Amino acid sequence: MTSFLFVTDLDNTLVGNDAALVELNDRLQKHRQEYGTKIVYATGRSPLLYRELQVEKNLLQPDALVSSVGTEIYLNGSNQPDAGWSEILSPGWDRELILSITDKYPELTLQPDSEQRPFKVSFFLEQAVASGILSQLELELQKSNLKKKLIYSSGIDLDIVPLSSDKGQAMQFLRQKWKFAAEQTVVCGDSGNDIALFAVGNERGIIVGNARPELLQWHNEHPADYRYLAQNFCAGGILEGLKYFGFLE
Ligand code: GLC
Ligand code: MG
Repeated sequence: MTSFLFVTDLDNTLVGNDAALVELNDRLQKHRQEYGTKIVYATGRSPLLYRELQVEKNLLQPDALVSSVGTEIYLNGSNQPDAGWSEILSPGWDRELILSITDKYPELTLQPDSEQRPFKVSFFLEQAVASGILSQLELELQKSNLKKKLIYSSGIDLDIVPLSSDKGQAMQFLRQKWKFAAEQTVVCGDSGNDIALFAVGNERGIIVGNARPELLQWHNEHPADYRYLAQNFCAGGILEGLKYFGFLE
């Protein structure tokens, strides 16, 4: 066994199957101690909502937290986002200009204040009207030459983030910083904002058995032999995938 870089989404991926989570935590903790494996959480949550979940579910302390859909990276329990990453996201990002455009769409409801971040503007958008609104909004934002990206997840969450940012690019920033090969990196997810983790390169991928339709559809359209679709749900699917790729016995 050798060290690997373990990167996982939280809601409905790492969290959502309590019995399996206990076993997975135990295996990962030991692997980290014995081989120097690194644990990264990549979540859409703000640091505030992340801490609530960490306490509630007794999550392991990660080596890095990628929060707010990849727009913030916190290393080794620090309270300060990594400045190198923020610098990469800044050019061409204009929060106020985005808000002045989204203001005109009554279908977009702002998420709570805690989820509005320096490099992330987030709304609720009902699935039934989403595709029409998204293409209209995309066009209008394009006209303003904004370097942004729209990420729609779970049939309700719309995040607008810098073009140079998402969970996948944040993961690669860490992978290169810590010098893990793509073959020694595994990413896990269940929904739309995780597609970036799977799409960015050829890191090993685990899609949990309870994945959302938007991720399954993308997976079917972009099959790859370095990606594994698990049968089991949440942490159970992660355990299954880690064994499939030979990261765990
Ligand atoms: C989390 C965040 C929310 C975001 C969603 C999808 O629920 O709290 O702001 O829209 O993830 O990325
Ligand atoms: Mg999720």
